[in-house]
Amino acid sequence: MKVSIIGAGNVGATCAEYIALNSIASEVVILDIKENFAEGKALDLMQTATLNGFNTKITGSTNDYAKTANSKVVVITSGIPRKPGMTREELIGINAGIVKTVTENVLKHSPEAIIIIVSNPMDTMTYLALKESKLPKNRIIGMGGILDSARFKCYLSQALNAPASDISGVVIGGHGDTTMIPLTRLASYTGVPVSQFLDADALKKVAADTMVGGATLTGMLGTSAWYAPGASVAQLVNSILNDQKKLFPCCVFLDGEYGQKDICLGVPVIIGANGWEKIVNYKLNADEQAAFAKSADAVRAMNTVLNEMKTA
Ligand code: NAI
Ligand code: 2OP
Repeated sequence: MKVSIIGAGNVGATCAEYIALNSIASEVVILDIKENFAEGKALDLMQTATLNGFNTKITGSTNDYAKTANSKVVVITSGIPRKPGMTREELIGINAGIVKTVTENVLKHSPEAIIIIVSNPMDTMTYLALKESKLPKNRIIGMGGILDSARFKCYLSQALNAPASDISGVVIGGHGDTTMIPLTRLASYTGVPVSQFLDADALKKVAADTMVGGATLTGMLGTSAWYAPGASVAQLVNSILNDQKKLFPCCVFLDGEYGQKDICLGVPVIIGANGWEKIVNYKLNADEQAAFAKSADAVRAMNTVLNEMKTA
């Protein structure tokens, strides 16, 4: 099956690489606006095929959307990334224009595609893509919670001195330093609540480190991260293409679920061949529900900024 990735930068190219390494799709097209950039990334990646033993065909395109035709999944990573000190929200003006145009172009050639939004501020970009495209809500999925959860599990495993693969943990809410909600109450070490091993201060530190996980890396790298984001998108693509019904926290349109309406926000959803298929109710406690409402307020404020920019 065919996957297209718009934006051949750090996240897009890494995502293509993980899709190939894990034989998730038979064909990947990466497209970028920069002349020959996607073609170069595709050629470099194809030269790893014999070394890494994959059969996925990866090709590149400079802004020619015809090459993306009939994709089952399209991943949008085009846009500018964060620089040190920048919030995801500061990217809104530039990335909104890019995401809108890209979504229109993608749908001209792949009208049935399921679209994954990665570009930041991701929650607002997901809402924008849904509103502009008027697609059924299950076909637009924002990726942020899978990444935030991976960071949460990484920090938990370090605090517990346990293998990360033994940890389960989920982050819901917005994909922003102050809007994400690591659900420490539900995190476990092979089924045992982590609160049996870590005291309240240690858990607070894990949650705080998770929330600034992206900013920490941006400070270290000079731009935002790409390995974990690329791997997170590849997992999402895998669950769609192979109808795996994985339960992932993803940014989807809420119509009353978790007490919110007319917003795209991170909640646990089942991901399969139809995109996001079902929102799962985690039965949040009062504190978690209040944090979710606060997160929604912040994301809604960002959506309003976007609407005001459009009408200005
Ligand atoms: P990057 O700068 O390495 O790559 C972005 C690419 O998009 C560039 O190659 C650029 O030429 C291309 N591009 C710009 N306008 C375009 C257009 N109109 N059509 C096609 N391509 C276009 O950036 P990186 O690190 O790959 O990040 C991409 C986006 O993903 C950023 O907005 C970043 O903040 C976001 N991000 C989101 C994450 C998430 O969890 N949702 C995680 C990491 C990054
Ligand atoms: C990240 O979380 C900046 O969204 C990007 O790494």
